[in-house]
Amino acid sequence: MEQRDVHDEAAFDAIIATADYPVIIVTTASGQDKAGCLVGFAGQVSIEPRRFLVGLSRSNHTYAVAQRAEYLAVHLPGRDNAALAALFGSETGSAIDKFAHCDWRTGPHGLPILTAAAAWFTGPILQHHDFGDHVGILLGLSAASAPHRAVTASRYSDVADLSPGHPA
Ligand SMILES: Cc1cc2nc3c(=O)[nH]c(=O)nc-3n(C[C@H](O)[C@H](O)[C@H](O)COP(=O)(O)O)c2cc1C
Repeated sequence: MEQRDVHDEAAFDAIIATADYPVIIVTTASGQDKAGCLVGFAGQVSIEPRRFLVGLSRSNHTYAVAQRAEYLAVHLPGRDNAALAALFGSETGSAIDKFAHCDWRTGPHGLPILTAAAAWFTGPILQHHDFGDHVGILLGLSAASAPHRAVTASRYSDVADLSPGHPA
């Protein structure tokens, strides 16, 4: 078991808040089920080959669908996509159909692509890793759509007021 010190944890939390990482919106599909949520725990972890790691909470509806899925889509919301971030971060697919409340289209691998997002890519799920209350999902790269307009990425500080649809 790790040694825990509340002061170190508070300092760690302050460091992460100061880093103010960008947030993404992950979607996935399995059979007739579609799911997606706002994700802060994510980032590139290899250049060659391209690899991207997504941390999904075990409590989320998105994780339940992702466990049965072969691919994920990663969307980059701009700061002007606040409504989309709120829909995917504060509502849960356990209670509502998020895709009835936003514009989307069927993209590569049958994944739902959020049309308002500034950019997106898709990738195969290569590995699952137990990280604790979140599960690391390692993605490859299968398709991508670069930003088609000038965009300022949405960061944690832009969405920090949202209450997650599911407690982590
Ligand atoms: C700022 C912020 C960051 C979040 N980061 C993550 C994350 O990294 N991983 C995750 O699984 N959920 C994260 N969430 C929580 C989910 O987006 C939220 O619980 C969502 O409502 C779950 O929807 P679902 O149950 O349909 O999957 C975050 C929420 C917010 C507001």
